[in-house]
Amino acid sequence: MSTLEIRDLQVSVKLPDGELKPILAGVDLTIKSGETHAIMGPNGSGKSTLAYSIAGHPKYEITGGSVTLDGQDVLALTVDERARAGLFLAMQYPVEVPGVSVANFLRTAKTAIDGEAPKLRTWAGELRGAMEKLQMDPAFAQRNVNEGFSGGEKKRHEIMQLELLKPKMAILDETDSGLDIDALQIVSEGVNRVRATGDTGFLLITHYTRILRYIKPDFVHVFVGGRIVEEGGSELGERLEAEGYKKFVNA
Ligand SMILES: Nc1ncnc2c1ncn2[C@@H]1O[C@H](COP(=O)(O)OP(=O)(O)OP(=O)(O)O)[C@@H](O)[C@H]1O
Ligand SMILES: [Mg+2]
Repeated sequence: MSTLEIRDLQVSVKLPDGELKPILAGVDLTIKSGETHAIMGPNGSGKSTLAYSIAGHPKYEITGGSVTLDGQDVLALTVDERARAGLFLAMQYPVEVPGVSVANFLRTAKTAIDGEAPKLRTWAGELRGAMEKLQMDPAFAQRNVNEGFSGGEKKRHEIMQLELLKPKMAILDETDSGLDIDALQIVSEGVNRVRATGDTGFLLITHYTRILRYIKPDFVHVFVGGRIVEEGGSELGERLEAEGYKKFVNA
């Protein structure tokens, strides 16, 4: 049983001229393993900033507050250490890793996170199984990470990582955007398989309630102006779809 605790988190983005532009204005959120939280909010409200800040992207400066995973200070850890501690981020725009094949990348990541290399005999089968379940062509294993992948293929690859790495906390930043109807269902099923273990907590950032019908969240948070302004159950997502953010933006 794990708990990710975000308390009064304040974050600025570092501009090229060295100035700091405040984005997160005090975020409070607690996620326990087995729980699924959805965050919805207008463009530019800081959702990806929250995801990147937890993962440790150097572009963001933490100016206040705290993030802990089972009491451990996440913000004091390097990006690697955060991944090893059990944090996982599926990025809104996954990056290409030229010269590194999917198979090598996953094996290296798995080794780093588990502290030992996966057994050769079982690993190949595990990888093949994960690709099959996400209906990915086995040829992807030999391609360079995200190089020339279509938008939807990048997202499936993120979910394949999720299934193989079994993190304690998974942050999925718009994993549903750009997916065709079938892919959305395949990706959702992947998330639900990990979810069913009860060992992983999820933070699902999305603009659409469609994915929330496949992956029913326990909690929905409305994110506006760098903080959470409203919280509710899955019905809040439906309400937002009908009413938009006007009420919260002007509040
Ligand atoms: N280098 C930068 N210079 C200026 N502003 C920046 C920079 N990087 C990020 N920002 C601003 O930070 C704000 C928050 O961005 P963020 O990507 O977190 O939003 P978001 O909620 O994820 O939006 P979306 O729904 O469109 O993905 C935006 O207004 C963005 O323009
Ligand atoms: Mg974003």
